[in-house]
Amino acid sequence: MRLEDKVAIITGAASGIGRATALLFVKEGAKVVVADLDEAGGNEVVDQINSDGGEAMFVRTDVTSAVDAQAMVKSTIDAYGKLDVLFNNAGIAMRLPVVELPEEDWDRCVDINLKGVFLGSKYAIPEMIKNGGGAIINMASIYGIVGAPTRAAYVATKGGVANLTRGMALDYATSNVRVNCLCPGFTETPLLAGVLKTPAEYQALAEQHPMKRLATPQEIAYGALFLASDESAFVTGVALPIDGGFTAG
Ligand SMILES: NC(=O)c1ccc[n+]([C@@H]2O[C@H](COP(=O)([O-])OP(=O)(O)OC[C@H]3O[C@@H](n4cnc5c(N)ncnc54)[C@H](O)[C@@H]3O)[C@@H](O)[C@H]2O)c1
Repeated sequence: MRLEDKVAIITGAASGIGRATALLFVKEGAKVVVADLDEAGGNEVVDQINSDGGEAMFVRTDVTSAVDAQAMVKSTIDAYGKLDVLFNNAGIAMRLPVVELPEEDWDRCVDINLKGVFLGSKYAIPEMIKNGGGAIINMASIYGIVGAPTRAAYVATKGGVANLTRGMALDYATSNVRVNCLCPGFTETPLLAGVLKTPAEYQALAEQHPMKRLATPQEIAYGALFLASDESAFVTGVALPIDGGFTAG
């Protein structure tokens, strides 16, 4: 197993990519803390893991809150004694250009997608250092690499996550805390379903990827698994596209 005896926190694990990653990490031997605002969805993931014989717990967390981020890390240490992996995955989509974008929506997107990564990392890294090191995986996007129209706040936050990843990687390299991010193409999750309404819209989006389809949440989870495991022991500061060729052109 690729994560035997590891303890991992996954934010946004009640749904989509986070949920798929929680199930995969447990299958690979990790104990997982499901950290999300969504109590019903989070508990459902934990129940599924526990009924399959794995170990997981739900910690209700708003990633925009410093108090919650601290409590998320403390609950993990109290329950499992250490922290090896943090997947800062929670995020929201936002589709408006600058002129039409209300300031409060900008703030909300920055708070969840970017500040959430800062806060989670801020409280996780000291625990990882105490334990001899760890791995942080941040959720960026293809839009952390390239821009796109009508998504001003989203592309800004994901570009920020990619460069925050590089900065943190350099700051903690000698402490053996590796920091990398994932840059998925469009992935079939509830987040995407909330934005796309018709089969034609799905198809048009699939066509933008050279491989002519969308990603599955599991395909993104396997990227997180590589970056969480010791197989990537010399990988830090990387922004890994999992995008069917979207950013290659
Ligand atoms: N789906 C895609 O096409 C796609 C592509 C690239 C990147 N991403 C990124 O992947 C991540 C996960 O997306 P997904 O598609 O699985 O979405 P999703 O909507 O299925 O899941 C997101 C989860 O984050 C949680 N969440 C939202 N705000 C939160 C907060 N303040 N505190 C704690 N939890 C919160 C939600 O409750 C939900 O469970 C996001 O960061 C998203 O930007 C998604």
